[in-house]
Amino acid sequence: MGTFLVTGASYGMGHAVATRLLERENLVISLSRTNPMFDAGATHRWYPFNLGKAGVKNLHVARMQKDVVAFSGICINVAVQEREKSQWSRQQIEKHLNVNCLGHAQLFMQMYEHGLVGPRCSIVVLDSFLGDSGSDWAVAYAMSKAALKAFFKSVYKRYSEKLDLSVYFVQPGRVETPGNPVRELADGEPGFQKPEGVAEVITDLLENPKQEQKSIDLFKDT
Ligand SMILES: NC(=O)c1ccc[n+]([C@@H]2O[C@H](COP(=O)([O-])OP(=O)(O)OC[C@H]3O[C@@H](n4cnc5c(N)ncnc54)[C@H](OP(=O)(O)O)[C@@H]3O)[C@@H](O)[C@H]2O)c1
Repeated sequence: MGTFLVTGASYGMGHAVATRLLERENLVISLSRTNPMFDAGATHRWYPFNLGKAGVKNLHVARMQKDVVAFSGICINVAVQEREKSQWSRQQIEKHLNVNCLGHAQLFMQMYEHGLVGPRCSIVVLDSFLGDSGSDWAVAYAMSKAALKAFFKSVYKRYSEKLDLSVYFVQPGRVETPGNPVRELADGEPGFQKPEGVAEVITDLLENPKQEQKSIDLFKDT
């Protein structure tokens, strides 16, 4: 039994990961703006938290310290992708960078400074191939995913020996979630996966880290 942090467990993939971790009798702390869809049972704590708002300072971390000695795993899941608007503006780039990358970087550093990153900790980052390839329509999202990956690669370089860290970048392929609702796809386009299948892989990486940094492409690897 471990203690895990999942960002954005109110719905979508984070919800599937938190549900699976709770089924396996772990303690789960989740952060999001709205309440998760599951009952906050004895082994789950939810803190309202907006990753896009700077200056939240230590409030959430100080509260977490009441429930947690240190995390054995952290799932970096929250991301915004505004599809309905052009992302080719400074405002959109800032919004995506704030929520998807800077909020998580600030949260991780605060947790580290407060001793909440456990001595053997697995970090799973929900990654996107758009961060590697770039995108002509989701430029702000692609930039923020690339920056997030660079941040956690740097974390691995800086802390892996001291902390016995593992960092996994999981590219899940197209997954059926409120953020990416099922729609008709052109012939030959890869279809939607269920979040529960992805959650099973992520839970295994969180519970059984191998002291490594690794990128995993679930679309290619399954
Ligand atoms: N779905 C896909 O096809 C796909 C493909 C590749 C990669 N991914 C990656 O997988 C991850 C999860 O995707 P998803 O489709 O499950 O997303 P989603 O359905 O949009 O869920 C996002 C979660 O993040 C929370 N959230 C959003 N903005 C937030 C904020 N400012 N502060 C705190 N929490 C916030 C939401 O809760 P609240 O609204 O309650 O805050 C929700 O729990 C993302 O990193 C995404 O880039 C997804």
